Amino acid sequence: MMDLKEVEESLKEELQKAESLSQLQQVKAKYLGKNGLITQAIDHIKNLPPEERREYGRRVNQLKEKAEELLREREEDIKKSELQKRLSEEWFDLSVPLEPATGTLHPLSLTLRRIKGIFLSMGFAVIEGPEVELEAYNFDMLNIPKDHPARDMQDTFYVNKEGYLLRTHTSPVQIRTMLSHKPPIYIVAPGKVYRRDDDPTHSPMFHQVEGLAVDKDLSFGHMKYTIETFLRSFFETDVPVRFRASYFPFTEPSAEVDIGCVICQGEGCRVCKQTGWLEVMGCGMVHPVVLENCGIDAEVYQGFAFGMGVERLAMLYFGIDNIKLFFENDIRFLKQFR
Ligand code: FA5
Ligand code: MG
Repeated sequence: MMDLKEVEESLKEELQKAESLSQLQQVKAKYLGKNGLITQAIDHIKNLPPEERREYGRRVNQLKEKAEELLREREEDIKKSELQKRLSEEWFDLSVPLEPATGTLHPLSLTLRRIKGIFLSMGFAVIEGPEVELEAYNFDMLNIPKDHPARDMQDTFYVNKEGYLLRTHTSPVQIRTMLSHKPPIYIVAPGKVYRRDDDPTHSPMFHQVEGLAVDKDLSFGHMKYTIETFLRSFFETDVPVRFRASYFPFTEPSAEVDIGCVICQGEGCRVCKQTGWLEVMGCGMVHPVVLENCGIDAEVYQGFAFGMGVERLAMLYFGIDNIKLFFENDIRFLKQFR
């Protein structure tokens, strides 16, 4: 005959050791299954003499009920701790801000936007002209003679149609504007231009922003003020600026505008070719011949014009030392700009 007290103790012990529902299932089978210890004890009742049967039967049934209750309790515990385990392993921190993978604007787009914004605030309108341009607008009407070196195949990309080319500067937009609008004119014209150039500061395709003002009583002083105001606003500081006498066939007098090299602080480096200065634009008073070419009376009206290199300005503003970086589209470079 089985010691029921011992069966109960060993059941309790094994229940404590069971840590998963499948282990618990094994314990249940061992005690209450078809050949389980408690099941055997119940079977044994009928073999007992009648005087013992009653008392033993009562105790076996109590044990069976007790065992079922213990198993239920243990099952609850195991389910609870399995849930706790999952909750501590599988979780999200809902307070962590999710940063969606957004794109960024290209540094040249950012630079063009800023340039346009500054001129808009000074009262200039923004217009655009075509990249495939008439040779007449790109050269002839700008007073650039037929034998000028800029027209050479070395410098200019010609297209497969007589009289057309890829514009080498944005100045033909001056011609288009003066042909189609009466003064007063205050415009800037951003866009792509093309030249057979290729080194750390020159690219075969680059961007310029042309400026044109035509009005009565306009002087070189107005131009100088406009350009200086633009540059101070663009660089958000009193960057060194110098006007250097120069020559363009379509302006008289002409100047080139230089800015102190911010890469080397004027000490001389590869970018500024050891001069400490970087050329950022050409400018001048619109040549009377050009005004007359466009049907504007040069006795009544004066004009000033300028053409700036956008890559050059962006390189100075962001501290970039090679123009190629703008066009390689390396994501590690591009995502630094916002
Ligand atoms: C011109 O293109 C004149 N049309 C500018 C002008 C307009 C003068 C109106 C007077 C009146 P220039 O060739 O110097 O000038 O070019 C102007 C600017 O473009 C330069 O100062 C430089 O910043 C930039 N630039 C020139 N060539 C390249 C190139 N290959 N790559 C990048 N930037 C360039
Ligand atoms: Mg030049």
